[in-house]
Amino acid sequence: IGSVVALSTLAGGGVWFGGYRPGSLAAAEPTSTAVAGPFDVDLRLLAHPDEVSILPGAPSKVWRYTAERIAGPTETLTPVGESYAGPLIRLRRGQRLLVRIDNELPEDTTVHWHGLHVPSDVDGQPRLPIAPATSMTLAFDVVDRAGLYWYHPHPHGPDGGRVGLQSYAGLAGPLIINDDAERALGLPDGERELVLILQDRTFSDGNELQYIGGGGMGAMMTRMRGFRGERVLVNGHPDARREVSTRPYRLRLLNGSNSRIYKLAWSDGRAVIVIGTDGGLLAEPERRRSVTLAPAQRIDLWVDFGDTEPGESVQFVSEEYQLGMMGGGGMMEQGMMGDMMDRGMMRDMMGSERIPLVTFAVVARANDSETLPERLAQDLPTSPVQADTPVRRFELGMRMMQGFTINGRRMEGTTVADDEIVRLGQTEIWEFVNDSMMPHPIHIHGLQFQIQERTGSKTDLHDGIIDAGLHDTVLVFPQERVRIALTFKNFEGLYMYHCHNMEHEDAGMMRYFKVVA
Ligand code: C2O
Ligand code: CU
Ligand code: CU
Repeated sequence: IGSVVALSTLAGGGVWFGGYRPGSLAAAEPTSTAVAGPFDVDLRLLAHPDEVSILPGAPSKVWRYTAERIAGPTETLTPVGESYAGPLIRLRRGQRLLVRIDNELPEDTTVHWHGLHVPSDVDGQPRLPIAPATSMTLAFDVVDRAGLYWYHPHPHGPDGGRVGLQSYAGLAGPLIINDDAERALGLPDGERELVLILQDRTFSDGNELQYIGGGGMGAMMTRMRGFRGERVLVNGHPDARREVSTRPYRLRLLNGSNSRIYKLAWSDGRAVIVIGTDGGLLAEPERRRSVTLAPAQRIDLWVDFGDTEPGESVQFVSEEYQLGMMGGGGMMEQGMMGDMMDRGMMRDMMGSERIPLVTFAVVARANDSETLPERLAQDLPTSPVQADTPVRRFELGMRMMQGFTINGRRMEGTTVADDEIVRLGQTEIWEFVNDSMMPHPIHIHGLQFQIQERTGSKTDLHDGIIDAGLHDTVLVFPQERVRIALTFKNFEGLYMYHCHNMEHEDAGMMRYFKVVA
């Protein structure tokens, strides 16, 4: 890759794809009702530059979140590793949260609560930037189901988005909501509930994080495909290893990568047992040989090391895959954009077609164990779709020298078109048709949706797709049509829908929509 440069030289100003200008970001009028105290949880969240030790040798410059608990239960904040990952924020459904965000970065940022049903004005959208050396205080009620959500920056200025760069620099953290229904299931918790954030990164010889730089052809191509790092970190650490006993564990995974899709599997071929998705637990577990996880998606897994002898280890890996439009591979994935190069690089580095993510070393025998509940969530909504549910269609396409588009458009600030206005309380089917050469993980703010139907192409990754349960991000493959059902509840105002390949969204594959009464 000839187009990566030290992240620190990009901080505070970069060159963006196609010289794209997104139009006015003038804040629209506030639409939500402010939430008043008392608050159950009060946090300070600080976004700031730092140096952390990631690889042996010199420390790496990063941007990261650290947090302080002013009020609330001690369980509210837990560190995630000793690297750059933001702390785990653990909330209970029903709590009222107050959080002050302090920006000590050299540029604007926001904090978006990915997956949470929150009012538009606290959603951390680009229209609500926090300037350097200033802070923003916001509050909301925790109303979502138990599940793993996350928080990350969402700035988008006149020169394009900075989500890719800021997240890559280290700004991202997990957020777990607990509730009574989930607790009653007695799933593994404490040190047997592992939060694992997958992110790929490229380092210079001096351990500096490298990101796309410059305006050349190579940089343009990388931006079109999305940035992929040479190695995968887990919670900001290479070569992740966990010591476990012969008991069940709960693995809660977040794909926090800019563009990499993972095909997750166990090295010994055991089934991957899925108990939850973006929006919480499934009604019942699903077993797959591998599971597909696109950027921004989360997956909740159950694994029982009860049949592994102490002294042995099992690896959790990502397998290589083909994303072909016709079996053999689409141009975009197969080399035109350099995928072959990444693949070759991986093989050289790892000596295999499998990227090891976490090694689970079984070190102790446990006396007790639990069994996987065959019935999980009882509170999943039934399909809200009826015969007269309206369908709204979105075409994911590509325009030469512009990049990827949604219905031929790109982000134009807070401007919404007539077909981007929806009614409060209404259920709709949104149909995404992918006519481009790349898969797009499509994300919708402020709600969880159900995936109704998927028709079209089949790839190596399709067997690992979990469409059951609730989602906020859905992967739409080239030559595929995906229908989701969503209901615009409780909050009026501006929200966003976009591709969560961060380079795509930064290049404008992102739009506002508006919920009106
Ligand atoms: Cu995870 Cu609009 O974002
Ligand atoms: Cu979001
Ligand atoms: Cu995309």
